[in-house]
Amino acid sequence: MGTNILGIETSCDETAAAVVADGREVISNVIYTQIPTHTLYGGVVPEIASREHVLKINQVIKKALSDAEMTWEDIDAIAVTYGPGLVGPLLIGVSTAKALAYAKGIPLVGVNHIEGHICANYLEDAGVEKEDGKTAEEMSKPSSIEPPYMCLVASGGHSHIVRVDNYTEYTIIGRTHDDAAGEAFDKVARAIGLGYPGGPKVDKLAREGNPKAIEFPRASVGDSPYDFSFSGIKSAVLNYLNGAEMKGLEVNKADVAASFQQAVIDVLADHTIKAALDNNMKTVALAGGVAANSLLRTTMKERAEAKGLRFHCPELIFCTDNGAMIAAAGYHEFIAGRRADLYLNAIPNLKIGER
Ligand code: KG4
Ligand code: ZN
Repeated sequence: MGTNILGIETSCDETAAAVVADGREVISNVIYTQIPTHTLYGGVVPEIASREHVLKINQVIKKALSDAEMTWEDIDAIAVTYGPGLVGPLLIGVSTAKALAYAKGIPLVGVNHIEGHICANYLEDAGVEKEDGKTAEEMSKPSSIEPPYMCLVASGGHSHIVRVDNYTEYTIIGRTHDDAAGEAFDKVARAIGLGYPGGPKVDKLAREGNPKAIEFPRASVGDSPYDFSFSGIKSAVLNYLNGAEMKGLEVNKADVAASFQQAVIDVLADHTIKAALDNNMKTVALAGGVAANSLLRTTMKERAEAKGLRFHCPELIFCTDNGAMIAAAGYHEFIAGRRADLYLNAIPNLKIGER
């Protein structure tokens, strides 16, 4: 019998719960996404997100248990995201997890959302068919990953290069000075009229465009060759669109999407690979919503392998917010002996590696 962790995630616009055995094997994975609700407003509205979490959380947790064909007796610990994220949404997950832990007498573990994204790399979902026809088992077994490695975490709220020292310790090597990569995708998508959330839409439209059509800046910042800045490229895209409009020129949106995406990915990939080589890492990995980007996945793989590095990324479904990644991170915290008590609170600006 393995160690079964129930993971609960409510930090933004997904109400999610999952059961994961031994930090790897996904037994169930339930995600209720609020994206259709927030699409009406062009972005996440925190108050509405909180309310939707309240309405869905109990159902989502019940389904995670029933899909796993388990009862509370089978659960060894409850892991919950307590930060970073939106305070209202975080509090729904934290309060629910505390109530359940208390009522059922099950240990509670607090999980950092970003560390959860990184731990998505350890997940294996044997039942899922991959895009290219291979099962997850075939794909993930030979390439399974162990620390240490260099991980790019790029999501709607974060862009970090993190050295994963072991299963519970992390060192930040690079960070963004302004916008997160996913935020840049979302803003550019809005500017070219694609709607929210922009990442997947830019990804799709970019496949029809020429990535060399427009030369957008590849910005480096500060003293660190590993840091990022995405506000410059976002402004460059907006200036390009405004300039074209003033001259009455028609804009090829696919070319804008492809050129923007290429510029962001060049920087993400090159900084991560440099960080890996400079830190004597043998493996690079991806995490976070932007890790679902098809060009980022292929570019990182090609450029990493060209430098003799191994490459790993989570399955698509585990890149964006989910409960399984929280259960995976929670498992490693749990076996390291870390426990949260009933004073656990939401920490909206929780940092990586902070407790
Ligand atoms: O990790 P996540 O679900 O939530 C946060 O923790 O922020 O990431 C969501 C972000 C959004 O900005 C979304 O546009 C971006 O990830 N994203 C993508 C893709 N899929 C999601 N960005 C680029 N390409 C994609 N295919
Ligand atoms: Zn996330």
